[in-house]
Amino acid sequence: MIDVVNLCKDYTLKRKEPGLKGAFKGLVNPGIEKIHAVADLSFHIDAGEIVGFIGPNGAGKSTTIKMMSGILTPSSGSVLINGADITKHRKEVVRNIGVVFGQRTQLNWDLRLGESFELLKHIYQIDQKDYDRTIDELDSILGIKEIINQPVRQMSLGQRVKGDLVASMLHSPKVLFLDEPTIGLDVSSKYALRKFIKEINKLRQTTVILTTHDLGDIQELCERLIIINHGVMMEDGNLSEIVDRIAPYKTLVVEFYDEKAPEANFCEMIEHSGNIAKYKFMKKDTTAADIIADLSKRQTIKDVSIEEAGIDDIIKIAYGH
Ligand SMILES: Nc1ncnc2c1ncn2[C@@H]1O[C@H](COP(=O)(O)OP(=O)(O)OP(=O)(O)O)[C@@H](O)[C@H]1O
Ligand SMILES: [Mg+2]
Repeated sequence: MIDVVNLCKDYTLKRKEPGLKGAFKGLVNPGIEKIHAVADLSFHIDAGEIVGFIGPNGAGKSTTIKMMSGILTPSSGSVLINGADITKHRKEVVRNIGVVFGQRTQLNWDLRLGESFELLKHIYQIDQKDYDRTIDELDSILGIKEIINQPVRQMSLGQRVKGDLVASMLHSPKVLFLDEPTIGLDVSSKYALRKFIKEINKLRQTTVILTTHDLGDIQELCERLIIINHGVMMEDGNLSEIVDRIAPYKTLVVEFYDEKAPEANFCEMIEHSGNIAKYKFMKKDTTAADIIADLSKRQTIKDVSIEEAGIDDIIKIAYGH
């Protein structure tokens, strides 16, 4: 469905020295600085996938999304949607694409939401029946009809994002790019948005590429993760496989009846305080059950729990924090 091939984007910045003198100097002889925002990115996404596209601030996510959705032209490399190059066949390809930026609306501030929808209906020449069906379907997920007569300017952030989501789906695109759609949303709006993504993926087999800094979004929605940093690929794979590879360990927390905590085979005691000790072990070496069996031969155990590395640990390691 989507092929990104050796994609690069450089931005040129005019460097200016500080102060008035620097400003004059910059006018005469501007120093040019090149930023390699995206550097040789390649990946393939199949139809019907929901892919989490993540990375720290400034990693190049939005730049990549803009190139994938035809808003920015790549410096080199290409993006193919269903085999068609987006820069060469922009008009046709864009019909298969929807895009939402959580930080910026694509709707007209001066129109009522419904008027914006009508406008898009004409632009994309959407059949009235299809239009009505789509609105009904999306209304059942997002509750859009109650705000359809409201001017976009007067909407709350959550209402505006809902409006943007519906607008992006009116022409039934096969691919939906969502760049930080949950930013600034309250818990229930976030929940509605996640439900929306799941439903359109299930009902319409829409392929979704999602950028977010909210790990809950990823955990809830994405089986696959692409992690980039400094414009280059860091990780691409199944979420649980990435977790297993980057953090191939678990921690067993054991509460004993007294303060003596014994050692056990194939694990390392990493913490011991009062009656509680923590044992870190590699998943390939042993199991929690074996360690518990081993420990209980030496001491009476009162309680146990297991701490697994979560996505936040992965992010910390992959982002280099
Ligand atoms: N129009 C532009 N002109 C010059 N530099 C830009 C422009 N847009 C982005 N950049 C730079 O390119 C790099 C990548 O920016 P981008 O917006 O793609 O990052 P991002 O991964 O989306 O970050 P965030 O998580 O903060 O949204 C950054 O160093 C940014 O400063
Ligand atoms: Mg961004």
